[in-house]
Amino acid sequence: MTKLIAGNWKMNCHVESGTALARGLADKANQSSKSADVAVCPPAPLIPLIIEATKNSPVSVGGQDCHWEDSGAHTGDVSASLLADLGCTYAIVGHSERRADHGETDAQVKAKTEAALAAGLIAIVCVGETEAQRDAGDAETVVGGQIEGSLPAGGTPDTVVIAYEPVWAIGTGRTPSLDDIAAIHGFIREKALASHGLGDGLRILYGGSVKPSNAAEILAIEDVGGALVGGASLTVENFWGIIESCP
Ligand code: PGA
Repeated sequence: MTKLIAGNWKMNCHVESGTALARGLADKANQSSKSADVAVCPPAPLIPLIIEATKNSPVSVGGQDCHWEDSGAHTGDVSASLLADLGCTYAIVGHSERRADHGETDAQVKAKTEAALAAGLIAIVCVGETEAQRDAGDAETVVGGQIEGSLPAGGTPDTVVIAYEPVWAIGTGRTPSLDDIAAIHGFIREKALASHGLGDGLRILYGGSVKPSNAAEILAIEDVGGALVGGASLTVENFWGIIESCP
């Protein structure tokens, strides 16, 4: 299975810095023989510029979120069909920062995933436990519940990607042990996704403080289908270092 390395720029980059980053990645990708799927998810207003900067390269572009409706009175929101119209391939849905900052529920994430699929996008559906939930031994229950609540019927390994991102590892420099990552990815594939008939072949990304120095060992884990990268996706050197770490 080809690994997917997706950069989540979050609320970072402006016109000049974002364009330069995208151009730098496109150049690297055009010179590389590394077989990995590479995507960047810039802030929504930058998407047309980043699509332009990465055209004629294998770098794909995604949105960081989408609304569940196709159009209407939803100030500040972006529809999945507009992302597709602009040339996006992916939409991240249910990131823990949106679940926390905007109170997004599993039901809303499910509706957003449905909208992304209807628009022909690949949905990157984020799940992950808080530190308190992990300490209480509830990580699998929480993640299993999020997958149960956030995944609509009708997804396939070609249209849905799961990103397992423990909330306590995002932006903190801390990561679970390799054994813990392997265990929860195995749980997601064999239990949580299997009950949706999706266990085989669906990519499950790991996210949370992935950087060039830890990427190789994380990406070598059998059930890890790639990485969703925040902070380390903001420089060509760091992001490309992670892509180069794909086995
Ligand atoms: P991080 O963020 O790599 O900065 O920890 C990952 C994410 O939130 O997707």
